[in-house]
Amino acid sequence: MPRFFITVFGCQMNKLDGELLEGLFVERGWDAAESARDADVVVFLGCSVRQHAEDRLLSRVGRLKFLKRKRPQMVVAVGGCIAQVRREEILKRLPFVDLVVGPGSLLRLPELSEALLAGAKRPVCCYERLDKEFDGHRRPKGGLSAFLRVMRGCSRACAYCVVPRARGPAVSRPPDAILSEAQKLADAGVKEIVLIGQDVSAYRFGDVDFPRLLQLVAQIEGPKRFGFVTSHPLSVSTRLFEVMADNPRISRYLHMPAQSGSDRILRLMRRGYSADHYIQTVQTARSIVGDLEVASDFIVGFPTETEKDFAATLKLLHHCAFINSFIFKYSPRPYTLAAKMEDDVPSSVKKERNLRLLEAQSEVSLQRKKKLLGKTVAVLVEGRDKKSQRLRGRTFNNHIVVFDGSATVGDVVSVKIETVTPLTAFGKVEEDAR
Ligand code: 5AD
Ligand code: SF4
Repeated sequence: MPRFFITVFGCQMNKLDGELLEGLFVERGWDAAESARDADVVVFLGCSVRQHAEDRLLSRVGRLKFLKRKRPQMVVAVGGCIAQVRREEILKRLPFVDLVVGPGSLLRLPELSEALLAGAKRPVCCYERLDKEFDGHRRPKGGLSAFLRVMRGCSRACAYCVVPRARGPAVSRPPDAILSEAQKLADAGVKEIVLIGQDVSAYRFGDVDFPRLLQLVAQIEGPKRFGFVTSHPLSVSTRLFEVMADNPRISRYLHMPAQSGSDRILRLMRRGYSADHYIQTVQTARSIVGDLEVASDFIVGFPTETEKDFAATLKLLHHCAFINSFIFKYSPRPYTLAAKMEDDVPSSVKKERNLRLLEAQSEVSLQRKKKLLGKTVAVLVEGRDKKSQRLRGRTFNNHIVVFDGSATVGDVVSVKIETVTPLTAFGKVEEDAR
């Protein structure tokens, strides 16, 4: 049997693509290899969202050069967003790469690999948009938590973002397909289903919008929690918050990137909202969904960002009291509007703003965690903490909890919180709950 080895970099989309691809190889009779060394096909799925992500992937692929020299028959494939955006660079920089496959063509990767192993001419590049059929091949493996794609691509036009180029415009999957996949996941014993999309709450298929879809999926028996990521601030709605509030199995967590707190920068980013509008949205969400936690992404050092703009970002972060923020230094991306602007914030300033924002977030995270002190919270048990070997899980609003006591993975237990750090709450099992 030929053997494959897949390495994934990037977001949940790429991770899910990696899982689906693995299923496709297995379906065709392939075996999983232990490492690249004993594989016939080595696949890298890569991200293009920042330069750093691209560099990391390309240097990993570069390390295969010697192995490939020894075994020229081996197929080296690069897939995912980076393959769509950087096709020429990949083949120029890494001439031993045999297959370059965009995120819409991963369905064809096993078949193309077989053709190359049988002697077809190399390299091959493939960019068809076949992703419609891709998810349909899923064979749920079970496990604690699973992603479920509800839409592909993105139809927004944020000035910094390469995703619309990499994955094309937004296409929502039919609700029937999503519901039957969710049911299969539930049947396989999955305890948490996370609906994913680049702008997941913009989902719409006929008259089924995202609140309705979430309501339908979260009726499925079996899973203990239903989450969703990521939401653009303009695609959430009061109805979505009401659906969240109505069903205790929907997680009380909203990942809704603000990106900046400066109206001027938000305009340049073409985000379509002001800082006030964002803050108002968070307030509305919190007033409807009890115990809601909100997380954000921020880009620091966007072209022309001044100290005053950055101060507005700090202010917004404090005001919204995020549970967590993912903070990135601006990186110009090909084919984006912002790439036409001068990347004028020096890298030392980006670094410094990144650190200051991280520090501010850490303070705010600690404040959020302190609210849990002395309280008993419901925790979905996920396994053992790597460092301490104590039990570990997450609350319904996504606080990480490390605790003592007896509990089974996949159960929901009540944990009394005794101490906290910015990232983790610590406690003891009190009694079985839910
Ligand atoms: N530079 C830096 N960060 C970026 N992101 C997207 N594009 C860029 C870029 N060009 C960040 C945004 C987004 C997250 C996935 O990555 O914050 O929400
Ligand atoms: Fe995910 Fe975007 Fe990176 Fe593609 S470019 S892997 S969609 S974050």
